[in-house]
Amino acid sequence: MKKVNILGIETSCDETAASVVCNGKTILSHVVASSMKHHAKYGGVIPEIASRHHMELISSIVKQALKDAKLTLEDIHSIAVTSEPGLIGSLLVGTSFAKGLSFASNKPIVEINHVQAHLYANFVRFVDKTKNEGEFPKSLPKLPAIGLVISGGHSNLYHLKSFKNFQLIGKTRDDAIGEAFDKVAKVLNLGYPGGPIIDKLAKKGKNESIKFTCAKMPGTYDFSFSGIKTAVLYYTKKNKNFSKEKIAYSFQKSAINILIDKSINACLKKKIKTLLVGGGVAANSYLRKKLIERADDEGIKVFLPPLTLCMDNAVIIAGLGYHPNNVFKN
Ligand code: KG4
Ligand code: ZN
Repeated sequence: MKKVNILGIETSCDETAASVVCNGKTILSHVVASSMKHHAKYGGVIPEIASRHHMELISSIVKQALKDAKLTLEDIHSIAVTSEPGLIGSLLVGTSFAKGLSFASNKPIVEINHVQAHLYANFVRFVDKTKNEGEFPKSLPKLPAIGLVISGGHSNLYHLKSFKNFQLIGKTRDDAIGEAFDKVAKVLNLGYPGGPIIDKLAKKGKNESIKFTCAKMPGTYDFSFSGIKTAVLYYTKKNKNFSKEKIAYSFQKSAINILIDKSINACLKKKIKTLLVGGGVAANSYLRKKLIERADDEGIKVFLPPLTLCMDNAVIIAGLGYHPNNVFKN
């Protein structure tokens, strides 16, 4: 089989990442640098700081990805780059770099949607087989599938018919799920990003004495997380001696359960047996456990990426780049 090596470039938010993926499946390199620590004190990503870091890092990260893959630009078939959505200054660094590289090397550019690409984390395997142990399911998923992307910026539900046909069937009407985790963590003074901290704290707060409920948005596959976030804020104002652990548990349970309910319902209604999950919040331990239990009960197979591919990275960009929609030749 001919080897189609695709170089992926990702700069949509605070991670500068580059990867090489062969034939849309085999990860030859996976390099990620995060500017997160420079944003943490502000409680969120500062676009200007993010783009400056991309500017500093992009060249060395791309070089490292080629070096780790033991390839040169000559061996690359095409350059896949995140073109949307994201912070405009950050996206510009990645897309401009990719255009320069494409012009100099005469390789085509493939534009990739970052949110859709998160689901591709379920279709790849490391070339170094020892890295595939444990976290990856034995088989690759088959399409059609329902796809749930849950991250700091998005909560999208897709009916994925092929890699060129992502039909958006549901989305958040206000805050993204990761954003809600981060905002609740801010209210509780837990630091940024809040998702992993709440996840850890919730394990110590298992108790049904506080109940936060999430808007159901009946009759739709849409989500709404701003109400539950506000409910947490009011609760902390009213109850001065609140338990952070109990709040974390109750908030997480309610917010994650709505994601599980809607995804399983979509599978049942559309008679689809495969559910793909992606994005930073797919790392959540409560979600990983409960979703598998619920899906098992319904005869649905769930695919969750290994933790390193839940967060922003360029493997998912290079991977989806094997199934191009928008290709530009210089
Ligand atoms: O996909 P991602 O790396 O970046 C975006 O494209 O947004 O997702 C980052 C989000 C943050 O909001 C972070 O708090 C959340 O993912 N997150 C988690 C967990 N790990 C990361 N949320 C809940 N539980 C976790 N374990
Ligand atoms: Zn993302």
